[in-house]
Parts: sequence; C-alpha cells; structure tokens
Amino acid sequence: MNTIEVCLTHELIHQHELEGKVVVITDVFRATSCIVAGLATGVKAIKPLIEVEDCRTLQAEGWLAGGERHAQLIEGFDLDNSPFSYMEERAKGKKVAMTTTNGTLAVNKSMAADEILAASFGNLTATVSYLKTLQKDVIVLAAGWKGRPGLEDVLFAGALALGCQEFLQTVGDSTHLAIAGYDVAKGNLLEYMQRASHLHRLKNLSGGKDIPFCLEIDQFDVVVKLNEAKELVAL
Ligand code: MLT
Repeated sequence: MNTIEVCLTHELIHQHELEGKVVVITDVFRATSCIVAGLATGVKAIKPLIEVEDCRTLQAEGWLAGGERHAQLIEGFDLDNSPFSYMEERAKGKKVAMTTTNGTLAVNKSMAADEILAASFGNLTATVSYLKTLQKDVIVLAAGWKGRPGLEDVLFAGALALGCQEFLQTVGDSTHLAIAGYDVAKGNLLEYMQRASHLHRLKNLSGGKDIPFCLEIDQFDVVVKLNEAKELVAL
C-alpha cells in the first residue's frame, strides 16, 4: 500500500524525500483557497512565484498580478488574496502571477516532487478522488505561517489523510496528530477555527467573508495541478 504523510510547515519539507511522490500543498487561509476558487470559476492558470518583482514582470506582459504581503494587496497588483477577487469577472480567462507569504513559497519548495497539487476545503473530495487514481506516495504540505504550523492547514491535511485512509496508509506522528485534530474539529470547523492565529489577521478583510468561504467543504469539483510550465491549472 502507498502512504500518505503530513508535513506541518514548509520549513520542514526538506526532511522529506519528494522524488517519485505527489505533494499536495494546502494554505487554507488563503492561498490555495484562492487558487482553487479561481481555477474552478474560469481563471486560466496561476503561476506561483516567490518574488513580487517576478509578478510585476509578468504583469507587464499582460498577466494579472495577485497575492499579498502582510495579508494586504501589494502596491500596483490587480488582485489581493481574497478568493472572491479570484472569482471576479475580470479574472476569467486570464493568467495570474501570484505571490504570497507562505502558500506560493510552499509550492516552490516542493519542485522535486513528481507531481504537485494545490488543495483546500473547497476541493477536498475532488482531490481525494484524484489521489485514488494514482499509485503514489503522498505528502500533504500544510504551509503554515512563516515556519510555524497553521491550525487551518493542519486540520485540512488531517481531513485529506482521513479521506485517503482506505487506499493510502497513514504514516508519521504529524499525520496522526492532524487526523485527530480534524476529528475533534469537524463537527463545527468555523467555531473550532476561532483558535487559529492567522484567522485573527484576516477576520476583518473582505467584510469577514473569506474565513467561512475558505472553510466550506466541496464547493468545487476541481483538481488543481502544477503543469510543465510550472503553472497551476484545473485538470
Ligand atoms: C499565505 O500564503 O501566507 C497566505 O495566503 C496569506 C494570506 O492570505 O493572507
């Protein structure tokens, strides 16, 4: 049986052998929730970048630039880091060059993997179903915040591992911790998540709509994968 293992922050990803494996990146608040919502509703592709300047270069070539620093819109960028911005009419059919503090960094740190997926509560079941079709070991990278674990990302990693339990063996203490955490929280995710430190940075943004949106399960039937051009696309 292939395995599934949770990595608690992008600062720990170097401890994992990625070659031959699938890495599922999650940054629930909010990078991968933006990515999933945008690609499910008409954004053509999203290129995850580390540097603001690299986004500006692509913006000059006609891409939209999106993302955040300190959770806020970056000067001169087209989109902030709210999933609602990625679902706007002006984003449809467009390519977006995106940079965020942790989410896009986590993707770039995982480039040695065979396959990279981006997931969030919004495409939980679609991602589980896709992983079932692969016969590969899976690492779920819970992006976290500046090297520290993020409750929302760890709980999503637990939900994903739980969903895959039938066909993937859960390995590693972080994985069991994540599953146990999700089990406790799943009855009322929104209430449980009030403990999450990043929630307090974000709760007043977008009129308070981002948090409940990012925690809503299975809004989208879409699998998001990094292609050969290193762009995230809907399969
Ligand atoms: C990140 O990548 O750190 C987040 O998506 C930050 C945010 O949305 O505020």
